[in-house]
Order: sequence, then structure tokens, then C-alpha cells
Amino acid sequence: MSDHFPPDFLWGAATSAYQIEGAVAEGGRTPSIWDTFCRTPGKVSGGDSGDIAVDHYHRWRDDIRLMADLNLSAYRFSVSWSRVQPTGRGPAVQRGLDFYRALVDGLLEQGIRPSLTLYHWDLPQELESAGGWPERDTAHRFADYAGLVAEALGDRVDMWTTLNEPWCSAFLGYGSGVHAPGRTDPVAALRAAHHLNLGHGLAARALRATLPKAARLAISLNPSAVRARTQSPADLDARRRIDALANRVFTGPMFKGAYDDDLLRDTARLTDWSFVHDGDLSITKHPLDLLGINYYAPSVVSAATDNRPGNGPDLREPRPDGHGESAHSPWPGADSVLFHRPPGELTAMDWPIDPTGLYDLLMRYTREAPGVPLMITENGAAYDDKPAPDGAVHDPDRIRYLHGHLAAVRRAMRDGADVRGYFLWSLLDNFEWAYGYGKRFGAVYVDYETQARTPKSSARWYGEVARTGVLPE
Ligand code: NOJ
Repeated sequence: MSDHFPPDFLWGAATSAYQIEGAVAEGGRTPSIWDTFCRTPGKVSGGDSGDIAVDHYHRWRDDIRLMADLNLSAYRFSVSWSRVQPTGRGPAVQRGLDFYRALVDGLLEQGIRPSLTLYHWDLPQELESAGGWPERDTAHRFADYAGLVAEALGDRVDMWTTLNEPWCSAFLGYGSGVHAPGRTDPVAALRAAHHLNLGHGLAARALRATLPKAARLAISLNPSAVRARTQSPADLDARRRIDALANRVFTGPMFKGAYDDDLLRDTARLTDWSFVHDGDLSITKHPLDLLGINYYAPSVVSAATDNRPGNGPDLREPRPDGHGESAHSPWPGADSVLFHRPPGELTAMDWPIDPTGLYDLLMRYTREAPGVPLMITENGAAYDDKPAPDGAVHDPDRIRYLHGHLAAVRRAMRDGADVRGYFLWSLLDNFEWAYGYGKRFGAVYVDYETQARTPKSSARWYGEVARTGVLPE
């Protein structure tokens, strides 16, 4: 039986500034932490960088045409902070704002709704040099920047996201060091998490003060669908610890205005959390109009002390969407937790394919954030796509992945989840962070030599789903 989505369901695709724009030294843009990280030997596979990326800065008109061909009703992109406010302080640079204004106008002309993310990991390097997210001032700088962008684009963008996947910014950026700025200090990671929460709350206030009433405010989290490998008390406790560090460290301050006691206890030997000041948690608990969920794969954990043979290799690496390996853990205070790869098919990232993780998360946040509509702000898969001799790119695996996950979304909706839309990651093949250009997530294939774009068969398939609102059998 085919599955019908509601007529106003948004069908989108997502990207982020550093992953697609290129033109890193044009229009007054200054380096972000990712420019610096990419120049540090050994940090990014193949020594790749976003210097050119997929040249979206110059090709955005073509890219909007591609979106229109795919019948997209929405497009999620991010603003490069150092393009609009090069030092992370002071007035905005008009040329930077003009780029995004032209992009937004181009989208609106095609009837494509812009969904703007303010922070997708590219902190201005100057702010990192002043201490970065572990320092409280960065949260205030972020709120100022949010206000500047809102003033410039608030009349034409009505979906605003403060942060994308703050877990990655805090714990991969400052904990395991596999992301920029590449620091490996568990306390800095926890401080960063709090200041990201605070920055989110302060930015939400600044946006509310500036934007028209109808604008919708969101954050995009990458909550972990974390499962215990067995039901033993030790494995269940490992699950609880990771749930605290992956999920509740953000949703606690956001929805309850509190960090859970077990999180504070688990990390007590590292920090007394005195960086949380009086009043912070009422700022972080700012009402949201949408909760964005990015989902790729579930995690399976066990206690390291539990030596029973598993059903897959033990993974010392963080979690399926951990973006690379490191000798340092991204999980402060949870060194005794092992990650396991469940049996079954994997994507090119070596991530398992399991749409029930998405279903479970949608049902969980339906319960835990009642009244806050949900949006899938990212979902997709990397495969080793190659053009056939006739130039076409066939990616049946990606179609199957998308189909399975969209069916899970529909099932959650039938079971009561208020899901308003789905953004495929990603519109285009692009710079996949520490993996460089080796991993292709796009619905549209990019030849990195010529920058030619070729919609893959999944793009055609998704475009048809977007056009009809029907998920075929
Ligand atoms: C999450 C991130 O938001 C995005 O930038 C990244 O490319 C995808 N996941 C795939 O790893």
C-alpha cells in the first residue's frame, strides 16, 4: 500500500555553508575554525578543504534550478558566520548579507521555502583564538550575530535554526578532536556544551526580539537512538550514561531548564559545572516552535566490563555518526562504555541502516517535548556512487535507505508524532568534514573536477515523492 503524506508536508534538501560554498576568501570572508583545521596536516582525509567545495557561492542559481527540478518545497542552508561578521564581532559586512539575500530571493521566486541555520560548525577563527565555545563570551557573540542576520533577512525567511548538532561542536570539536578546532579536553567539551546551550537561548531571544511573530524558531539536534547491547544492569547503565551525554545534556536545559542529576554525577570528577551561572537555565529554556532532528543510524552500547562476546566488532570510536576516529573519547566521564556495530548492511560511512531508530526518536520527543512540532532536518546516506558509461548515476541503495526512513516517519506520524517536513541530506555531494570529499551524500552527483551536477536516480525518485506526497510501495 502506498503511503500518503499531508499536503502541507515540507519536502526539502539540506546543505551547509562550509560544505558547499567554497570562495573562502571572497566577499570579505575570513577564516573559520574549519579553514584552520583543514590546513592542519593529518586532520582531514586527503588534505581536503572547503576552499572550493562545490563552488555553490558562484553556482547558487544553477543549484536553485536543480531544487526546482526536484520539486522541493523547502531548502535548508546555513550562513557562514565569518562571511557576514568576519571577526565574530561588530557590524555585519554588507557583501556577506547580500549573498544570502540573493539566495533567499532566488528560492522564494521558485516557491521554495528557505530554512536558515545560523551555525553549522564554522566558528570565526578569531573567536576560537579568544577561547571558542568553552568561553562564555562566545555565547554572547553568537546572539549578536543572530540579531544581525535576523535584521537583514527576517522579512523573507520564516524558519530559523540556531545551532546544528551542538553535540558535534562540543564533543567532537573539543573532546575527541576529530572536528575543528581539534581540541581534546573533556572539561572544555562540557563547557562548550553549556555555552552552546546558552548561545542557543540568547540567540533565540535575539531572534524573537527582531523577527516577525510568524517566524518559527528551531534547533537541530542529532539525538542518539542509543540501545543497550543486553538488558544487563551494566549495559543499561552504559546506555543511560550515553543518553545523558548525547541527548539530555541539550534537551534538559532546553525543555526542563535543568541538567539532569545523573549527568552532573557522572562528570563530577571532571568538573563541578560552576560555569553554569545563576539564570542561565532560564535562558536556555526558551520556547521552540520546531525541534529539528538529524538522524542517520542508531548506536549500540555496552559496559566495557561486560566481556560476553558481542555480535559485531567493538568500536572504540564514538558512535556511528562520530565522524572519524580518535585516541580521545568524545564522552567525558564515560570511558567505560563500548560501542558496537550491529549486524547487517552498512552505508559507505560504515553506519548501520535502521529506520526504527528514527521512529523511536520521533516518538520519544513527541512524549518529551509535547506541543513542539518535529522536523527531520537531516537524513540520508553516503554510497560509493560512480557515473555509468552513459553518465547516469544509479544509486538504488540510497533509494532504499530513503524509502525505509520515510516509511518510519509516516508510521510515527500515524502513531501521533507531529512531523512537519523532511530534509534529505544532502542536495549535493559535498565536503564531508574529516572525511573530505571521499564520502558522497548527495542526491545530486558532483564531478569535483568540472563541478558538473548530475541528479542521481535517487534525486528523480525523491523528486517524485516530493511532487506527489506519496511514498510508493
Ligand atoms: C550531520 C551534519 O550536520 C552534516 O554536516 C554532515 O555532513 C552529515 N551529518 C553527514 O555526516
